[in-house]
Amino acid sequence: MENIGRATFGSKFGALMATLGTAVGLGNIWRFPYMCGANGGGAFLFVFLLCALLLGLPVMITEFFIGRHSKKNATGAFDVLAPGTHWNVIGFNGVLAAFLILGFYTVVSGWTMGYMFQSLSGSLNGKTADDFTSDFSLFISSAPRLMFWTVIVVIMTHYIIYSGVKKGIERSAKFMMPLLFIVLFALTIRSITLPGAKAGLQFLFNPDFSKITSATILSAMGQSFFSLSIGMGCLITYSSYFGKTTNIQTTAFQVTLLDTFVAVLASVMIFPAVFSFGIQPTAGAELVFITLPNVFEQLPLGNLWAFVFYLLLAVAAITSIISLHEVVTLYIHEEHHVTRKKAAIYVSAGILVLASISSLSLGIWKEYTLFGLTFFDFLDYITAKIMLPFGGMMICIFVGRRIEKKILKEELTNKGTTSFYFFNIYAFFIKHIAPVAIGLIFLYETGLIHWIMNLLN
Ligand code: PFF
Repeated sequence: MENIGRATFGSKFGALMATLGTAVGLGNIWRFPYMCGANGGGAFLFVFLLCALLLGLPVMITEFFIGRHSKKNATGAFDVLAPGTHWNVIGFNGVLAAFLILGFYTVVSGWTMGYMFQSLSGSLNGKTADDFTSDFSLFISSAPRLMFWTVIVVIMTHYIIYSGVKKGIERSAKFMMPLLFIVLFALTIRSITLPGAKAGLQFLFNPDFSKITSATILSAMGQSFFSLSIGMGCLITYSSYFGKTTNIQTTAFQVTLLDTFVAVLASVMIFPAVFSFGIQPTAGAELVFITLPNVFEQLPLGNLWAFVFYLLLAVAAITSIISLHEVVTLYIHEEHHVTRKKAAIYVSAGILVLASISSLSLGIWKEYTLFGLTFFDFLDYITAKIMLPFGGMMICIFVGRRIEKKILKEELTNKGTTSFYFFNIYAFFIKHIAPVAIGLIFLYETGLIHWIMNLLN
């Protein structure tokens, strides 16, 4: 199934960094710590680790199989593996989800850029907790300001995608991912050396297992999927650029482990600082935009730490945005026979339209709602809670039912040159366990589970 002349990543390290770039993002540094804080700390962390290893890893391996075996975009891959069928709807769901995620993810990344600039200019100085709260609501309701930063994010992403797979995506990831680790380590060391940091570490590493409920398990599962970029075209698209000798199992294992490590480290960076300054760990989504500025304000060289922190967040977000952009660009390029550069322009223009609507929906268009949600929240809800779990579940069903085990094993062992000790367990898991587990997340996240429970009672 060779696809002559198609781009591949130049090295295994490049492939690993690019894939890690898609996984590590706002999900690790923004969403994970606040979910962990709101769901009892250590207990949530424990369940999250189990979900990532037992569920996330096998599904990631499966997506890598689809991508590298077909060497196609997220939709075309299904046409290669199951020609003349409608399985490509799974890929199309992924491409659409990627595009919709871009509509709000670029806006949040714009907030990060705005805060990075503010910390540089010193405008976070001398403010009270109330100031930070009102500043944030003012910031997100000012559409021109938001759009300015969002446009900057889109231009940067566009440039990287426009430069191609090797010179754009791979090269930028090889620079940005190590930078992200260095910054994360520096901030973590700063945080754990603050007086009173121990309480934060205890909150995180002393799990109170009585706090684990079915809701904790399901939200940890959902978080592990979002964090590992599972359920849509990103992993299929990037693995279509893997070389023949890239070891799929090892790469999936490294990405899962490092992505989880970043989420844990981000919490180790945030909670000791939060506890050290007597702030509530349960602040929720505003943790990094309202709570943390209070922390930076009280630190010596606070502006510098704030700048470094928002830089970290921006780098993490941009590498994920690049991967989302690439899913849609490659789809248009290969399926609609448009040059790669033109496809990239269409996608960037589309993102700007979508992101403008979602920025305005936080301010002057607040009253216009879809199913009771602002456009911004609607995009978040429909992708994270419906399209991603649906995609993940269907990917497992597709490979479990439709792909011969022999073909699966050959691809995953590079034609028998590497070993896969637990192959039969993996295949059983993908066919029978993962679809049910993911189906449960779906029912829970959409609230349908409560409806079914009520029916049964
Ligand atoms: N994994 C990214 C994060 O943790 O922020 C978010 C994401 C990127 C989700 C790409 C899905 C995706 F396809």
